Amino acid sequence: MDKKTILAIDVGTGMVKVLAGRQEADGRVELLGSGAAPTAGYARGFVTDINALAHSIRQAVDCVVMAADCQTAGSIYLGISGSMFTAQNSVGIVAPASPGTVTGADVERACKAAVFAVANDEYEVLHVLPAKENAAQPGAALEVKTHIVAASKTLLQNLTNALSGNGIRVSGIVAGGIVAAEGMKNELPGQPSNYIFIDIGAGSADISVYADGRLFSSASLPLGGDYITSDLMQGLSVGRAHAEEIKRYYSRLSPNLRNQGVILDCNDYGTTDKHIPFDFLYDIIESRVDEIVTLVYDDLKPLMDNHLSDHGQVFESVYLTGGCGAMPSVAACAAKVFQIHTETVKPERLAVEYVHPANTVCYGIIKHGAKVAASELATERSAWNVFVHKAKRLLKI
Ligand SMILES: Nc1ncnc2c1ncn2[C@@H]1O[C@H](COP(=O)(O)OP(=O)(O)OP(=O)(O)O)[C@@H](O)[C@H]1O
Ligand SMILES: [Mg+2]
Repeated sequence: MDKKTILAIDVGTGMVKVLAGRQEADGRVELLGSGAAPTAGYARGFVTDINALAHSIRQAVDCVVMAADCQTAGSIYLGISGSMFTAQNSVGIVAPASPGTVTGADVERACKAAVFAVANDEYEVLHVLPAKENAAQPGAALEVKTHIVAASKTLLQNLTNALSGNGIRVSGIVAGGIVAAEGMKNELPGQPSNYIFIDIGAGSADISVYADGRLFSSASLPLGGDYITSDLMQGLSVGRAHAEEIKRYYSRLSPNLRNQGVILDCNDYGTTDKHIPFDFLYDIIESRVDEIVTLVYDDLKPLMDNHLSDHGQVFESVYLTGGCGAMPSVAACAAKVFQIHTETVKPERLAVEYVHPANTVCYGIIKHGAKVAASELATERSAWNVFVHKAKRLLKI
């Protein structure tokens, strides 16, 4: 694996998924391989056993190393989500270097000031996203509103140590839901400005809210497709793997089969009695989907109302991604509950075999890694240019 290769690890409730990829000069992500392993020690946004988690990450990384026929090198980024993150908005105010003109360096200083305003010894800042800036008038200060995501330093340190104990040296830990939303930002159909992006997986719904094209709110709720699987396990007296199969089978069927007296053959190896009425499955699955979507909506409703009253803006769309977002029922229910355009999105720019909503987080992590690498290269180059310039002056070339 060469230095430009990025290993993106997405820690999910169901699986640890890993993609090895590289962002090409034209912006496309070239994938070299993928791997996955069942998750242990983490569920619904909580780390319960850090060593078990590190071990399952190691297994998933071993899979990708074999699949992509490469050794672990390059940079490794780990995405995780859930309640370990805190998100808040903070305003940074600075005087622009040249009054009346706002440069990237001014915005960067304002972001640092915003972080400083909310700095906390126990938390490490992972993402600082400038949400809005008030362009400075001549003589006036520059004000930048930022969205800041941080995580417990102790947890990050423990995770990093457990991973390095398993031979994995991470270059960075990121909030999975945020990098997924940011990675897809310029690829969303309709190029919306005010929208809600939800990565809904097995155990967490990571919500990112955008206004004027910039992230201004994020949250993670412990809701996902695992609840539907558990309901099916109970309602049909089947094991987890069998219930997962039935859920995916149901997802491919039309809701128009309802009230038609259709009986589905839901047998798996070892069962013969699972001839299930479609209406029975429909009732189990749709009532849980309705509950999950309504809980997400209830969480967002005050924010949507405030945005309307403060800025006179309504949200245009809801974009769903993540494995549970692949269920047509979830998109249909979200459209009904939110009463706005709803669409499921996936990383379409990847090779066709990877185009699935469950891969959006890994895609976002690779793009994040490529962005960090590009900015490090730019810093190295500018440091080199300063050095060359100084050397030229000294040598009077
Ligand atoms: N085609 C499908 N139809 C129905 N459900 C699906 C489909 N594909 C995936 N899922 C469901 O999506 C969930 C897994 O999604 P995903 O891989 O995004 O979750 P995760 O990242 O492991 O969990 P987390 O919620 O912690 O991020 C499972 O509940 C799985 O059953
Ligand atoms: Mg996930």
